[in-house]
Amino acid sequence: MMTTTETAALTGIVPFQDLGRLHASIAEELDDAIQSVIAQSSFVGAAAARSFEAAFAAADAVEHAVGVGSGTDALALALRGLGVGPGDEVIVPSLTFVASAEAVVHVGAVPRIVDVDPDTLLIDPISVAAARTDRTVAVMPVHLYGHVVPFDLIRGWQAQGLKVVEDAAQAHLATWRGQGVGTVGDAACFSFYPGKNLGAMGDGGAVITNDQATAERVAKLRDHGRESKYLHDEIGWCSRLDGLQAAVLEVKLRHLPEWTENRRVLADRYLERLGDRLVPWADGAVHHLLVTRPGRERRDRLSGALADRGVGVGVHYPVALSDQPSVATYAMESPQAEAGAAEVLSLPMDPLMKLSEVELVCDLVDELW
Ligand SMILES: Cc1ncc(COP(=O)(O)O)c(C=O)c1O
Repeated sequence: MMTTTETAALTGIVPFQDLGRLHASIAEELDDAIQSVIAQSSFVGAAAARSFEAAFAAADAVEHAVGVGSGTDALALALRGLGVGPGDEVIVPSLTFVASAEAVVHVGAVPRIVDVDPDTLLIDPISVAAARTDRTVAVMPVHLYGHVVPFDLIRGWQAQGLKVVEDAAQAHLATWRGQGVGTVGDAACFSFYPGKNLGAMGDGGAVITNDQATAERVAKLRDHGRESKYLHDEIGWCSRLDGLQAAVLEVKLRHLPEWTENRRVLADRYLERLGDRLVPWADGAVHHLLVTRPGRERRDRLSGALADRGVGVGVHYPVALSDQPSVATYAMESPQAEAGAAEVLSLPMDPLMKLSEVELVCDLVDELW
């Protein structure tokens, strides 16, 4: 999911992100955890996965966490766990990774893709209201870039009888007015793709919820719809978080509060330097991505010039879902999402990045803007 520019700049003076540096900083802990899974042969559905799930639920201040194979599967399993299926419609924002809409299609429902707020680029509540039909059963707010969709909107949708599945793939440990993502929605879904704020060494994901019935249903669906070892009373998936990934994630989860705080310090400095050239966020954001808005004309020139100087850059996302061939047919008019896709540029953000690196990037942005 890294673009060519991101990859090219990984070896530059300020990489877009640096997983090698991150893993080197905790190499011994990771080695011990991996060896222990091998020693116990705790590969699938065993102690390592259960242990991580308990730790992840505690970190998110919820009752249940269910580890699954990817963030995409987490979304699909949460939807189905909440009873969403054929004949239903789920409202999804137009500026997100394609998986948000893909998951709705996977469960046989119809995504209604709506526009985003012109400033925050998060799902626009007026467009949600306009897209609602009598088949709409759920909304999927996406905490894009680690910026949190206001919880009063989530509560409002729930008060109207809609289920809310938070796409928190980019928002581990993010909060809204002190309350964690996933504590308000009916379920919240995380990706542990390696570059995420909490990343595995492969694919992984999780569904969190305070509702026991939803958690049990997701746990059953991820494991072949299994009622007992060889009794399967419904069609499920094979989508279990494996033991090696769980062990890696449990080590990294211990460091996540400190890494998240580092991201906030770096983002604050970017904000001091770049001000309203950034896509704005509210307190509680966890800065998975640090996103500027140079505009349509300037974006490609700035992106190329920064990459030439060895600064890793990316675009999240260059194509709104309303223009995405696989799902565009489900989209309402999304002029704001399409403008965002044409105008944004992500700068380096990494939990072990130094403030001096932020200064260097901002000096270059000032010079090249
Ligand atoms: C907003 C969003 N939703 C869903 C996903 C899907 O997660 P995964 O790649 O783990 O399936 C991602 C990951 O890229 C994402 O960024």
